[in-house]
Amino acid sequence: MSEPEVVYLKDYLPPAYTVETTHLTFELAPEDTHVKATLRMKRHPEREAGVPLELFGANLDLRAISLNGEALPDSRYRIDGERLIIDDVPDDFVLDTEVVIAPEQNTALEGLYRSNGMYCTQCEPEGFRRITWYPDRPDVMAKFTTTVIGDKATLPILLSNGNPIDQGDLEDGRHFVTWEDPFPKPSYLFALVAGQLEVVESYFTTRSGRTVLLQLYVEPQNLHKTEFSMGALKRAMKWDKETYGREYDLDRFMIVAVDDFNMGAMENKGLNIFNSSAVLANPETTIDAGFQRIEGIVAHEYFHNWSGNRVTCRDWFQLALKEGFTVFRDQTFSADTNSAPVKRIEDVAVLRTQQFAEDAGPTAHPVRPDHFIEISNFYTLTVYEKGAEVVRMLRNLLGKETFRRGTDTYFERFDGQAVRVEDFVNTMADVSGIDLGQFMRWYEQAGTPRIDVAEEYDAERQEYALTFRQHTPATPGQVADSKLPLHIPVRMGLLNGRGNPIELAVGNERPGHEMVLELREAEERIVFKHVAEKPTPSLLRGFSAPVILNFPYTREQLAFLVKYDVDGFNRWDAGQRLAQEAIFDVMHAIQAGKAPTLDDTLLDVFDYLLKTPDRADRAVLAEMLQLPSEAYLAGQLAQVDINAIHDARAFVERSLAEQLHFHWQALYESNVTKAAYEPSFEQISHRALKNVALSYLCATGDEDALALADQQFKTATNMTDTRAALTQLVHRHAGKRADAALKAFEARWSHDPLVMDQWLTLQATQPHPEALDRVKALMAHPAFSLRNPNRVRALIGAFSQHNHVNFHRADGEGYALLADIVLQLNKSNPEIAARLVLPLTRYQRLDEAHQQLMRGALERIRNQSLSRNLYEVIEKALA
Ligand code: PHE
Ligand code: ZN
Repeated sequence: MSEPEVVYLKDYLPPAYTVETTHLTFELAPEDTHVKATLRMKRHPEREAGVPLELFGANLDLRAISLNGEALPDSRYRIDGERLIIDDVPDDFVLDTEVVIAPEQNTALEGLYRSNGMYCTQCEPEGFRRITWYPDRPDVMAKFTTTVIGDKATLPILLSNGNPIDQGDLEDGRHFVTWEDPFPKPSYLFALVAGQLEVVESYFTTRSGRTVLLQLYVEPQNLHKTEFSMGALKRAMKWDKETYGREYDLDRFMIVAVDDFNMGAMENKGLNIFNSSAVLANPETTIDAGFQRIEGIVAHEYFHNWSGNRVTCRDWFQLALKEGFTVFRDQTFSADTNSAPVKRIEDVAVLRTQQFAEDAGPTAHPVRPDHFIEISNFYTLTVYEKGAEVVRMLRNLLGKETFRRGTDTYFERFDGQAVRVEDFVNTMADVSGIDLGQFMRWYEQAGTPRIDVAEEYDAERQEYALTFRQHTPATPGQVADSKLPLHIPVRMGLLNGRGNPIELAVGNERPGHEMVLELREAEERIVFKHVAEKPTPSLLRGFSAPVILNFPYTREQLAFLVKYDVDGFNRWDAGQRLAQEAIFDVMHAIQAGKAPTLDDTLLDVFDYLLKTPDRADRAVLAEMLQLPSEAYLAGQLAQVDINAIHDARAFVERSLAEQLHFHWQALYESNVTKAAYEPSFEQISHRALKNVALSYLCATGDEDALALADQQFKTATNMTDTRAALTQLVHRHAGKRADAALKAFEARWSHDPLVMDQWLTLQATQPHPEALDRVKALMAHPAFSLRNPNRVRALIGAFSQHNHVNFHRADGEGYALLADIVLQLNKSNPEIAARLVLPLTRYQRLDEAHQQLMRGALERIRNQSLSRNLYEVIEKALA
């Protein structure tokens, strides 16, 4: 294929023409939807007159085009790839176009498409150009009026952004509704939905006393899954008012659940469209983690109304401006609503496992990328999760109150505008007086910074010194020498030998028991005075910066921190480090052909945690009792041996299970509840502990334990307990019990695709060598479809991301399977294909044999004609 065009941030120019108003009319039909657009346009004040007008479009069949009411002859415009160019246009004009599109044929799920017979749209980032010719870029903001026309019997509900201003019947059994959105918006926030939908309604009264109609539209079979999300939406609306002073601005807020959706959900103005997996929940069908994920996503999309919609992005390089900030907002909402330490632990686990892996691989990019081929490839963990960490650091540097003044000022200054990351950071600098010049490097430099810390203790002078050396490794396009030191906040404290916090004294400052060090240099030494004995440092509390911090802790010190640190996050982190060292001991023994043993210190710590469970709150305890994942462990090694990691982790798990058997039994029993299910934090903690205990009990492979899992499976009244039990039966390879349970589950749930996704996932992630054949067989199961992104993620995504031993089979069959599927999706859904392929690109730390197999699979993909999405990822991976 001809090389696709690269877009650079440095080439940004304001649009030559802006749109004041956009009038759209849709006549819906599966194969030939007619879209008429009337755009009132004006020359941009900063651009000279006479510049050609440039519109974007893809897969559009142009039927008519006229300028100021006069049809344009072919000679007046040209179409060049995705651009339509009109050479001379006046300063002020009206452009009319009519195109025909085929939603039924749209399998990419960008633009207007069909999902279970309903019509819906996805326009971010560049899907609107698949609907009509338009200056489809976020810095063009227009007022939209949209008329939707459709068959009244099959499409009784016709929705778009804003408020309905007109509706009526038409001939041939059709009807129409006209919607008007009073807020100027970029085209990526446009939405349209039409179908046979049921609606659940509620109300929310804002502080200023306005009543907002809340509507949740679902297919009839999903009506029993709406209650939780409606509650979550109200909690989010209340929280955003209290925490950020943000109120909702339209009279109605609509959410629609659709089954076929590439991402989690979309914040279209007044009409959020959700992947059904991100909004539908019910105790019988949804696990606790599912409820919490849904609460977070509902909040996230709602929060976008201010951080994203009212204040939007100037260009797509600024994506983290809305996403990083909004993820930070939803993280703190969830922390305030549930357990703050658990939320932090979970978010950091994702960041350190997945974002750090991205940062260390061929697709690494800064939080604000500076070039792209396909912007859809940049909806990444780096933009979202690292982007949120950067905002969190800002809040920690400014303090909560000043940060709030900063966000107030930001919303006030830039309301209705399309802005840049600098506008956000400069506002924070203005309100605080803090120089954030160096801080901007967090947006510009890719890669995870490393901090090596060394200690010295001078008993005579009673001084304790810490030396911090930071560096950021090279990433594609950014050599190591080009990386400058970052401004890094390190929250820390010191503990004395009895586990009590030490009063800190640095220079003339007495910050108390805890302080935030602000590192700015490549190397910095900090001296603590009046330290009567050699302390144990507790560093990077709450994970105050997205870095890898190394301190040469002894195992005794790690155990000590688990017991005594005041910071819940660091207690967990110390335990994880200890577990990691114990697992790596075993791994080295296995690799050297020696008999492995379990580290005593780790055993002691687990014994301690299980004997004094109230030392940590239950939910944190459930986190502390879990070993680091194989993916996380792999990320800590320069040379990865997948099987050795798996076997070593399994050995440690089994040893803990056997040696503490009595405790696991007790933990299980003490957390069984009879209360009716609620997704409350209290109950979630009990179930988490109970199911962690079940997992250890089953790790022994004992018949009694598997019988207990079987019994839990048969008697469970909620999906959390059902799925935990079924996972044990399948993953511990419980033979007939597992088969029977899988069958029973299938018989009960075959009508519910979101539940069957879980059935697919837990089979795809079983560590047994049978997994690959099982995945292949399941691809032919009626519950699977290559057309639906949720199904693909549940089976193929789960296998390639969470079943390391089988994905990385020595015969390369795991890679071959993924490559085959990616090539099929390359044609039907490029966005999903480019995402799904990523595990194949992470071969750098594997042995030569695996590397060759993975590269071979990538080369096989490269030999085909690729979408822009896949082309960009594959080229980076093979560079
Ligand atoms: N903007 C959406 C969100 O984060 C994500 C999304 C991106 C959805 C692209 C669809 C397509 O909330
Ligand atoms: Zn978002």
